Amino acid sequence: MRRFLPGEELDAALGAAAALARTGIGAVLTQLGEQVRTRADAQAVRDHYLDVFDRVRELGLDAQLSVKLTHLGLDADRETCALALLALARRARDTGSFLWIDMEESRYVDATLELFRRTHDAASNVGVCLQAYLRRTATDLDALAPLAPAIRLVKGAYNEPPAVAFPRKRDVDANYLLLADRLLEAAERGEGNPAFGTHDLRLVRDIRDRAASLGRERDAYEVHMLYGIRAAEQRALAADGCVVRVLVSYGSAWFPWYMRRLAERPANVWFVVRSLVG
Ligand code: FDA
Repeated sequence: MRRFLPGEELDAALGAAAALARTGIGAVLTQLGEQVRTRADAQAVRDHYLDVFDRVRELGLDAQLSVKLTHLGLDADRETCALALLALARRARDTGSFLWIDMEESRYVDATLELFRRTHDAASNVGVCLQAYLRRTATDLDALAPLAPAIRLVKGAYNEPPAVAFPRKRDVDANYLLLADRLLEAAERGEGNPAFGTHDLRLVRDIRDRAASLGRERDAYEVHMLYGIRAAEQRALAADGCVVRVLVSYGSAWFPWYMRRLAERPANVWFVVRSLVG
């Protein structure tokens, strides 16, 4: 577990962010949790994150935050969630930081994009994650284009039906590259800030090649990876001038998140089994 999580407490995540900073890598912090059912619990999550922005500023860390809308009470009360998101985006702006919105299961995409738009209208320090495995994502990208948004492009981590998501990995990878091209071209026109959230080094290399062929500076886009995955490559990319951020998770509600990490790579299951029996 420690492989993916520096610890359950916020201080462990802040310590990891400070350590990453020493290697030229920024951080994105996220408290694990999803599917919060009551307004009171959602407000506690909001208050926690407001406090994290303050801690990050006090410590002078290069750390952004990433939140899940169901953790902020999307299923309990959409308006409470919208207000929480707005409060967080404003705190991000006031503390010189940035707020990312994760993308969850496909049934939440419409609501997530709607709340992203509303928040973006009020405070620009906010970006949203889009998933390349979804058939709809190219259309979503078109619709968001007028906002010149910050988009974190990922492959997608949930089990989705074939009608909704490309079932074959090679189709997901091809769509990722197509969408990455569009994000890079938009950035070239000054219409958005892309972050590529992937550990797929071939994709990263292709993206870097394409960005270079468009004459993009190495800091015109970011590469985001998860804590504990491809750590050596994260450092190598940063040393080579690429802007790298690492998503550092903390908190006790790690089970569903951890299961998604295991599902991404069957070898991880053997890693866990070995550590349990070893
Ligand atoms: P791929 O799965 O093809 O992996 C490429 C290589 O990376 C693998 O061969 C392996 O070597 C290594 N690797 C990948 N995952 C690994 C793991 N768990 N353990 C060990 N090695 C691994 N998803 C989502 O639906 N909504 C979201 O909001 C986000 N947010 C997000 C933020 C950031 C910063 C990242 C990096 C990822 C996400 N994701 C996500 C998860 C994403 O959708 C996807 O499931 C994972 O990134 C794995 O896909 P890759 O792009 O890494 O490629």
